[in-house]
Amino acid sequence: MRETGDHPQTTVSRHLLTLEGMPRAEIEAILDTAAAIAAATAGRMKTLPILRGHTVVNLFFEPSTRTRTSFELAARRLSAEVVNFDVATSSTSKGETLLDTLRTLAAMRCDLFVVRHRENGAPAALAGALGDEVAIVNAGDGSHAHPTQGLLDAYTLRERFGPDFSKLKVLIVGDVAHSRVARSDIHALLALGVGELRICAPPALRPDGIDSRVTHAEDLDRALADIDVVMLLRLQKERMQAAHVPDDAAYFATYGLNAARLALARPGALVMHPGPINREVEIASEVADGPQSAILAQVANGLPTRMAVMCRLLGASLRS
Ligand code: NCD
Repeated sequence: MRETGDHPQTTVSRHLLTLEGMPRAEIEAILDTAAAIAAATAGRMKTLPILRGHTVVNLFFEPSTRTRTSFELAARRLSAEVVNFDVATSSTSKGETLLDTLRTLAAMRCDLFVVRHRENGAPAALAGALGDEVAIVNAGDGSHAHPTQGLLDAYTLRERFGPDFSKLKVLIVGDVAHSRVARSDIHALLALGVGELRICAPPALRPDGIDSRVTHAEDLDRALADIDVVMLLRLQKERMQAAHVPDDAAYFATYGLNAARLALARPGALVMHPGPINREVEIASEVADGPQSAILAQVANGLPTRMAVMCRLLGASLRS
């Protein structure tokens, strides 16, 4: 496939399902494409003609504000046609399988499907059944993966700290057990050679099967020492058994990030959160709205990152 950066041509899959196993060079190539797109759309003209003639379908089976809007705008800003499939009023409510729904839309010559689903592996199962007929982007499946969030977080860090991740110390705090964002961030950060990666999670919300290079910390105040980047996560109560749902106030006292705690990290440490944020639960407003917060930069960076992913999966080049 044609590429925009200086990277050697790599075999690019038709699908983006996970960042697990994605080589560093491929992640960097996506981030380079995203940076080129950001530069090309920085002025008043936000739209590029790259995906004219293509059709992108948003299929969201779980609630979403920023991810769905971000994919829709990303497709529109590449001049693609967009269909926002309305799950509630569709034939999936009449018992049609997800695969049959996709086959139906593929028969209408839709090219790329953005799929969010509560079940781990749902987008991969669709990709397996449909092969290279269409392109599929996982926009979050259960607690498994959210690859475009991992990429946009890596983009945000590269924009702020430069391409050498080896000096960065990153701390992920909160409900890691249920977080597809944490999993994709961990895959991206390890692939990019992050200096140190720590997790601080309540005992009931500690993840299984995390890479052995990731260290675990019990106490948030101590875990913050020397940290350059704090990534916070929402308590994903919708994925928890009732017994595991912590009390908001008690959680905030132990794991919430306020300004006093943030001062324990490196001066100017960056605060990230994929959203939606729950103020005064995992993050104090003074931090969310403060000068060290990158939350809205993450949202902004989602656009060029998702545009880059769509271009790569559809084999389109910035130069064509
Ligand atoms: C996250 C998600 O849906 O996985 N949000 C997002 O996509 N930006 C995180 C969450 O819901 O807490």
